[in-house]
Amino acid sequence: MSKSKTIFICQSCGVSSPKWMGKCSHCDSWNSFEEQVIETNAGRKIFTNTAIASQPVSLVSVKSVKHQRLFTSINEFDRVVGGGLMPGSVILIGGEPGVGKSTLLLQLALLNKDWKTLYVAGEESEYQIKDRAIRLGCIHENCLITNIMAVEELCQLFQDIKPDIVIIDSIQTIRSQNLESIPGTISQIRESAYQLINAAKYLNIPLFLVGHITKVGNIAGPKVLEHLVDTVLQFEGEQSNGLRILRTTKNRFGNTSEIGIFEMQQTGLMEVSNPSEVLIDTHSELLPGVALALVNEGIRPLVIEVQALVSATSFGMPQRSSNGYDHKRLNMLLAVLEKRAGLKLSTRDVFVNVTGGIKITDTAADMALAAAIISSFLDIVTGTDTCFTGEVGLSGEIRPVRQINNRTEEASRLGFKNIVSAPVKTGVKSSVIPITEVKGLVKYLSKQLVK
Ligand code: TYD
Ligand code: MG
Repeated sequence: MSKSKTIFICQSCGVSSPKWMGKCSHCDSWNSFEEQVIETNAGRKIFTNTAIASQPVSLVSVKSVKHQRLFTSINEFDRVVGGGLMPGSVILIGGEPGVGKSTLLLQLALLNKDWKTLYVAGEESEYQIKDRAIRLGCIHENCLITNIMAVEELCQLFQDIKPDIVIIDSIQTIRSQNLESIPGTISQIRESAYQLINAAKYLNIPLFLVGHITKVGNIAGPKVLEHLVDTVLQFEGEQSNGLRILRTTKNRFGNTSEIGIFEMQQTGLMEVSNPSEVLIDTHSELLPGVALALVNEGIRPLVIEVQALVSATSFGMPQRSSNGYDHKRLNMLLAVLEKRAGLKLSTRDVFVNVTGGIKITDTAADMALAAAIISSFLDIVTGTDTCFTGEVGLSGEIRPVRQINNRTEEASRLGFKNIVSAPVKTGVKSSVIPITEVKGLVKYLSKQLVK
């Protein structure tokens, strides 16, 4: 008879403890421990790659294999995964409910009529998927749907029907017969993923795993999963607008700084190849507190509108709130503007927002944020033909950005007359308005007002 024991597992990071704890000592989350029965069944059945040699081999004698990548006919997607899908690669895709994970993957299956796709629908019925496919406007016979949730049966099915790609929507609904705990718990997710990944690698099938994310933005529970898969993608966007961003946070087969931009429309997700044109409204006059940031998201230059509101504090502590820009960086920027440019911001509430629901990761957005804050503080406008790019340092200096040529080309293409940045080295093709410190930025913006 198999022996079972009870342990407590943190549902946030996967750490186990023999006793229940109110706060996880590993990831600091509260009330995240749940009791789980762990079956120590020695005879459990796992799909393994028997082709792997049992003896260690020298790296020199290992033959290098050049894999042919599969192109999905969604260019934005191919770019994010590093130039097409690698055979046998496992991709975890996370995002908030309703962001469009199921739509993206179904679209990927339906657009490629030659691929036999197995879509494991754990969250929706076959009829719901059919309705979605009708909305997307392309149905074909090679897209197979199943409601089987037992991982052992699924792995057998992979071997029987040999699909070209497998989509698991979602990993939280899959369960293994080896364990008694309910689907969605850390141990079930870990065990199911482990078996699915083994099977996919053995049969050389690209495998997509959909994972829910928690309130704080991590893929629910399975931080553990992130170590098992080859690629982790995050699908982001706000429900209120149609813009969606696919971001790589881990990629064993390519660059992690790539992003793909989509727009959710009536007929599914459309690729956005000129994102700056969607993100900025070049026709209307800018209001005080608005500036245009020239940033590189991935290796792609983008112009994004950033907004700031500086207002008098009504209660004791000034409020600081940030949407789409790092909160700690905002505090740093405010302290630098106060100390190095003499703006009295410590008695003001400051709110900043990046339009389009985008989260800026490039520090070159600092200067545009600083310009938006100065613009709101002094009640002046920055101008629709001006964009800003530069990192702000702790002593108030504006630091040069990487790939300036790339950025200035995009700004010129979009018709910007003034590119405000740190002084550029000789050899840079476009001319910029050089600013060396935040004090200079205040001076430049004040002059714009006089004109
Ligand atoms: P869905 O793919 O179900 O999200 P997830 O799997 O991440 O939970 O997307 C659901 C949303 O997408 C829903 O609010 C409706 C919207 N949608 C469209 O706007 N157009 C479409 O063609 C489709 C299929 C969905
Ligand atoms: Mg879904």
